[in-house]
Amino acid sequence: MKHIIEPLDFSLEETQRLLDLADDIAANRQKYTKICDGKKLATLFYEPSTRTRLSFEAAMLNMGGSILGFSSAESSSTAKGESVADTIRMISCYADICAMRHPKEGAPYVASCHASIPIINAGDGGHQHPTQTFTDMMTIRAKKQRIHNLTIGLCGDLKFGRTVHSLIKSLARYEGIRFVLISPYELRVPNYIIEEVLQQQNIPYTQAERLEEVIDQLDILYMTRVQKERFFNEEDYIRLKDSYILDAEKMKLARDDMYVLHPLPRVNEIATEVDNDPRAAYFEQAQNGVYVRMALILLLLGLAPDEQRKEIGIC
Ligand code: NCD
Repeated sequence: MKHIIEPLDFSLEETQRLLDLADDIAANRQKYTKICDGKKLATLFYEPSTRTRLSFEAAMLNMGGSILGFSSAESSSTAKGESVADTIRMISCYADICAMRHPKEGAPYVASCHASIPIINAGDGGHQHPTQTFTDMMTIRAKKQRIHNLTIGLCGDLKFGRTVHSLIKSLARYEGIRFVLISPYELRVPNYIIEEVLQQQNIPYTQAERLEEVIDQLDILYMTRVQKERFFNEEDYIRLKDSYILDAEKMKLARDDMYVLHPLPRVNEIATEVDNDPRAAYFEQAQNGVYVRMALILLLLGLAPDEQRKEIGIC
């Protein structure tokens, strides 16, 4: 049994199989409509979510399975003081697989230590968000036909943005990746990522504060929201929240084949006028989230078409 707590829980080969399966699902949805018949997905969301929870649920429903769960800690026994460990022991009796989002870093890992079903981390605090990363990678590959030899700009809240942390860790495994890290000083990528991932693996990166100065270098621009809920002090949030606003004017400085990604939800960081730019890929990215989660559920449940399952080493 395998859990996905962070994106590196899948090897490069396994990640490629996952993305290939997601592509196949996107192209042949009919083939998969009954493949999870009789299976149940539990979605335990202790923190707000729209896309991640609903795309997990849509993924299972698209494959003929069923769903159960809760969408806030207040509506679960957590409000009575139950631990994650106890909750997951129960859920293991009710469902075949579980996606968990939690405000505390490491909570899905703790769950995986007590579960008898596969656990998928659907975002833990400011730490990791592996399924968003797989979604991002599927989108990058679809747009650029490769995941190597790319200059990736990450812009916004690089300190608290868990999608950023997971994406850097994952892309650092591919040849010829270079990062341009664009953020205010206070919201720079945490030191542990700089030291343990970028410096240790000799990945080229630069840090910048002004998007206009670097946008023309990028193959991908990954915009992020300033993570209001992780600030200790509201004044800091108000001061930093509009640090970056990508608009049509700034898009003129970018290459014709630079694609804009965003895990969503957006607040102000991408003006709606950019939505009509052919380089805006964030809604397609959200759609890809369903295919990637369908593929992941199939692989973890051992229900993927045979050749995929054998090659990925999951049984
Ligand atoms: C992201 C998250 O929850 O970390 N959203 C998502 O899952 N698509 C990004 C964010 O909330 O800013």
